[in-house]
Amino acid sequence: MSDERESIHGEWSGSFSFFLAASGAAVGLGNIWKFPYVVGENGGGAFILFYILFLFLIGLPLMMSEVLVGRRGRQSPVNSFYILASEDQQSRRWAWLGGISAITGFLILSYYSVVAGEVMAYTVRAATGSFTNQSADGIQSIYNDFRANPEGLLAWHTIFMVITCIIVARGVRHGLEKTVKLILPVIILILIAMVAYSVSTGSFIEGASYLVDFDFKKLFFSRDKTGIYLLNSHGEYQFTFKGILAAMGHAFFTLSIGVGVMIVFGSYLARNTSITRVCVSVALVDTIIALLAGLAIFPIVFSYELSVTQGPGLVFTTLPIAFGTMSYGNLIGSVFFLLLFLAALTSAIALIEPAVTWLIEKKKITRVQATIKAGVACWALGIVSIFSLSGATLRQLIYNLGSYLDISDIDIRHRIFDLTGFQILDGLITLVILPLTGLLIAVFVGWIMKPESSGAELNCGKAFQYRIWQIVVRYVAPALILIIFIAGLIEWVSKYLLYQPVL
Ligand code: PHE
Repeated sequence: MSDERESIHGEWSGSFSFFLAASGAAVGLGNIWKFPYVVGENGGGAFILFYILFLFLIGLPLMMSEVLVGRRGRQSPVNSFYILASEDQQSRRWAWLGGISAITGFLILSYYSVVAGEVMAYTVRAATGSFTNQSADGIQSIYNDFRANPEGLLAWHTIFMVITCIIVARGVRHGLEKTVKLILPVIILILIAMVAYSVSTGSFIEGASYLVDFDFKKLFFSRDKTGIYLLNSHGEYQFTFKGILAAMGHAFFTLSIGVGVMIVFGSYLARNTSITRVCVSVALVDTIIALLAGLAIFPIVFSYELSVTQGPGLVFTTLPIAFGTMSYGNLIGSVFFLLLFLAALTSAIALIEPAVTWLIEKKKITRVQATIKAGVACWALGIVSIFSLSGATLRQLIYNLGSYLDISDIDIRHRIFDLTGFQILDGLITLVILPLTGLLIAVFVGWIMKPESSGAELNCGKAFQYRIWQIVVRYVAPALILIIFIAGLIEWVSKYLLYQPVL
């Protein structure tokens, strides 16, 4: 029975440690680097509204499901699914879901670490005054030069991976737990200080109102690169699911769902902890921190009359302009990038943990050996991201290659070639793989596991709470994920994969 199972990897010293570690995983580059720019791209408060809806309606019940699977299975995601499926006489192939989750986490870490490396480099740059009195063009060329310089990126990516691996190799209590206990309070303190600074910029109200500015037009209708709304052949605005899909994908990404993290963290959690309570707290902390990040960043952007719709470059190309001009800009800028680094670190140690536990169980090796193996593989994969970060689209890469091979006149009219490798990897993961693994997890806990098993694990005799959760994982989450996913997919295929006529 499940009561006798123990985790061979260790246990948290208490449920508060789980809360900190899960919050550390949830709060990351997603909250501080990605959230403000996806909000900017998708219509401010209108996007946030859907994001929060998905976060609590689908994300939270899925996070509870993952923790439940881990706590009952007490092993890596792969073996936890295997054990639970066997226990309820179901197909052991469900172990695959654990494998896909762990591999996805691993893929995310490979590019996450590259961006985290950039953040480290920017911490040093801000501190040493590289941005002081630079024009927007100057800052942009610092960014372009840096991204076009693979050696520099590789060096920082390597440093970040080494730090991550050292922490993970030290184990659950001495590595993960100690680190989050130290870092999470620092993250919160820095954010509060940044918000306090933003209040003093004079554009705080403008920044804050952006978060509640419900621009549904921007969320629902397509625009071209310059921001002009596209019209269809009848002269009407073109409806798009992109914004809604992005809101759902980001809700999964920010809660660290679909990559096995909450499963392994759940497997270190004591039996008597209420999964519901601790997961609700994590979702709340994550949401509050994302909103605080918005409150810290938008007012600065507005008070220097910069644009919020800068995409991934927002914190690297827009904010440094402000840091370069404001008084104490070196200090404020470096503290801001330090914040991003710390947030990235507590997510990175979570991202690699599922793969490490799996290797330990499968290959019967020590934690140190498993961490080295997983770390080196992830580091190597990161090199692919480094080359795609130079910003070259697939089309440019193929043309460059083509000019060597003398095939530069090949006909590539599919728009997918206008994307960069980074956009493809990030899009594939957040918009396709995470929703699909989320869907399968909902199916597993809702339909495959016996209600006696999931009920026994999830609640402490609270039948009503269990019933709500069950309805969500059985019906609401799968239906919503499927509808949004299919609609998004059809749109994406017609936009990027269909052969475009020459105009
Ligand atoms: N939640 C993290 C963020 O918002 C990213 C992450 C995803 C971390 C999955 C762990 C697992 O940045």
